[in-house]
Amino acid sequence: MTIEYSNETQKQYEFMEKASGYVAELAKKLGRTPTCHVVTFGCQMNAKDSEKILGILKRIGYEAIESEEADFVLFNTCTVRDNANQRVYGRLGVLNGFKRKNPHMKIALCGCMMQEQEVIDKIRKSYSFVDLIFGTHNIFKFAELVCAVFESKSMIVDIWKDTNEIVEDLPVERKYAFKSGVNIMFGCNNFCSYCIVPYVRGRERSRNPKDIIREIENMVADGVVEVMLLGQNVNSYGKNLEEPVTFSELLKEVEQIEGLKRIRFMTSHPKDLSDELIEVMKHSQKICRHLHLPLQSGSDRILKAMNRRYTKAQYLELVDKIRTAMPDIAITTDIIVGFPGETKEDVLETIDVVKKSGFENAFTFIYSKRTGTPAAAMEDQVPEDIVKENFDLLLKAVQETARNNTGHLEEQIVEVLVEEPNEQDTSMVTGRMSNNTLVHFKGSKDLIGQLVNVRLKTCYGFYYVGEPV
Ligand code: 5AD
Ligand code: SF4
Repeated sequence: MTIEYSNETQKQYEFMEKASGYVAELAKKLGRTPTCHVVTFGCQMNAKDSEKILGILKRIGYEAIESEEADFVLFNTCTVRDNANQRVYGRLGVLNGFKRKNPHMKIALCGCMMQEQEVIDKIRKSYSFVDLIFGTHNIFKFAELVCAVFESKSMIVDIWKDTNEIVEDLPVERKYAFKSGVNIMFGCNNFCSYCIVPYVRGRERSRNPKDIIREIENMVADGVVEVMLLGQNVNSYGKNLEEPVTFSELLKEVEQIEGLKRIRFMTSHPKDLSDELIEVMKHSQKICRHLHLPLQSGSDRILKAMNRRYTKAQYLELVDKIRTAMPDIAITTDIIVGFPGETKEDVLETIDVVKKSGFENAFTFIYSKRTGTPAAAMEDQVPEDIVKENFDLLLKAVQETARNNTGHLEEQIVEVLVEEPNEQDTSMVTGRMSNNTLVHFKGSKDLIGQLVNVRLKTCYGFYYVGEPV
């Protein structure tokens, strides 16, 4: 099959050629293959972006290594909460030490944090050893930017405010041979009042269904059996396409791809989750029995202040509808504690939803004030000690609920996609059930990437230990 590349794709391949020349020169100087290392902070979107970056680095001649003492190190950053930002600054200090020992080293930064002006100002001032900074909108220009780094002695900074462009067919270096993320849309239009994502990732843009399908078909031909469709709000996929398509329609098309075994997606916004989607999931052979459905809060007052556009009752009704249609589904969630004005009563409302929804797992976050978001300007920021107390209370409820709701599958035989050797015991492997729960069982690493039937023996809270059958 011959692929017709767009002009931009073509241009970037030309820059890859040119960059390969620079890397070859460097290899001669060093007397060895130059090395690279990419560090990902944050979400699955960033993980996917890092695979694209690594794809280009390898294509132009770098060898990927596990250490940060490499010739090209890139941090792909996250800014959803402030602690991620602080970690980047800390680790940049360490990189500076490596660069003093290796003057050929190049240091690059990209991702959401770089879309904030104050971050750029701080790096220019205090981290002048950085060679390249770019943002979330121009990652497709990475090859061109690498050329610019080789051609310049000073820091290259290229940040765009927004873009409408989606550039297809650039190289990708997948972390796993058998599973992969697939971007279906970029950006977010929801403007939840605490969230910085709409400011750093821009407005919603959906990829064309035919580009998505073609990418997945190619992956499957290359050994992928599970895909995770990625977007900040997948339930509003396709609304802004020239020929609008719903997320459910896209799922039905993905389902038809022969050889593909499992389909996952992230993230769903409760306000946009349609009955049509529940129907499609229910009748699908491939869509996994798992929904990640961020709650954020169970208090109507806080939900309103968060601009979430649903109530506690609506959320519970939705969970009920989903569980009735698919009794074997696992529902997981995200919850924020300490949003401005939150009281103990609000937290008790949240705990009530946790118990009633029976979440199989929940990611709990302490509210982090993000400059420029409406919530940052709200009065009544909650004192740290109260947040901590409420957080502990919520965590206890979450753990108890998860324990009560995960264990019911003991002695059942389930299909597990084996993902990696077990970290603690080399005679075991670790994989995932359709409902996303982890399972450890005796087996060799040859099983990685295969679907294996496993009898679940014992549940330990968030995971099972089983036996292959
Ligand atoms: N503070 C704390 N948590 C946040 N999240 C998003 N913004 C913030 C913030 N300012 C959480 C939400 C979201 C998850 C990805 O991160 O729960 O679902
Ligand atoms: Fe942030 Fe809300 Fe968009 Fe999720 S839906 S990325 S929480 S603004």
